[in-house]
Amino acid sequence: GKVAVLMGGWSSERQVALWSGEAVHQALVERGVDAHAVDLTRERLFGLKAEGFDRAFNVLHGTGGEDGTVQAVLDLLGVPYTGSGVLASALAMDKLRTKRIWKSEGLPTPEWLVLRSNEDALAAGTQLGFPYFVKPAAEGSSVGISKVKFATSAVSAYRKAAGEYEDRPRVVLAERMITGGEYTCAILDGQALPTIRIEPDGEFYDYNAKYISNDTRYHCPSGLPAALEAEIQALSLRAFELLGASGWGRVDFLLDEQQRPWLLEANLVPGMTSHSLVPMAAKAVGLSFADLCWRILQTTLS
Ligand code: DAL
Ligand code: MG
Repeated sequence: GKVAVLMGGWSSERQVALWSGEAVHQALVERGVDAHAVDLTRERLFGLKAEGFDRAFNVLHGTGGEDGTVQAVLDLLGVPYTGSGVLASALAMDKLRTKRIWKSEGLPTPEWLVLRSNEDALAAGTQLGFPYFVKPAAEGSSVGISKVKFATSAVSAYRKAAGEYEDRPRVVLAERMITGGEYTCAILDGQALPTIRIEPDGEFYDYNAKYISNDTRYHCPSGLPAALEAEIQALSLRAFELLGASGWGRVDFLLDEQQRPWLLEANLVPGMTSHSLVPMAAKAVGLSFADLCWRILQTTLS
């Protein structure tokens, strides 16, 4: 049948979702799928069924497409889609609730505080130590994230994460910094792929390091000892399943200096750009980008 590749959208990650979507669309067409690129608007979303689409391959990142909103409309329309359903999507888009669930189930996630004021931001360093991270609870691609090294930058980091120009204030977290290394583990159809170690050229794996820089280095296989690799894959899978996620996704974590893992977040519509991580992990197990897209399409919820 006819497949809509949902891309673009209206979140702050719109550009990333166009890069991802174009790559997926092209790969599916090469595989002989009757795939159509759909730069999604709210109006067009409601017309998908009438346009004759039987399935949707969702590559929308962030607000709307990754948080359960679009999923709910597709459910109502009766159009099956790739990835997780409404509840898991809404949970995973919210780093605060994600961390609470993981912590309550005994999974490791860095200590955090919810910031509600400039005063909270200033006080965070006392509890978390410097540097610490300030981030919006519901963004992706590192949008709005700062590393706070000194109390003098705490307030501006808070205001940036809170989105002072938006009508609806965002929930802001401060999170303890873990030093050791940045890693990620992709999940495909109930299985964890090999972990990737990320070596950003700058301070952390920010938007520039993710999509612009050619100086970010990626290691896959990550070089972890086999027992630790297996432990982390099992942890990532459990973290994914605790949110009720399904199909595919990516769990981001840090290792501390004792090589202990700390979970950061789950991405249920991870990037599929030429710089992206899930395609890199898939390649390590012999799946080309087109194979990966095909496999994800097969996991479509019905
Ligand atoms: N939020 C971006 C797209 C990612 O996690 O890959
Ligand atoms: Mg994310």
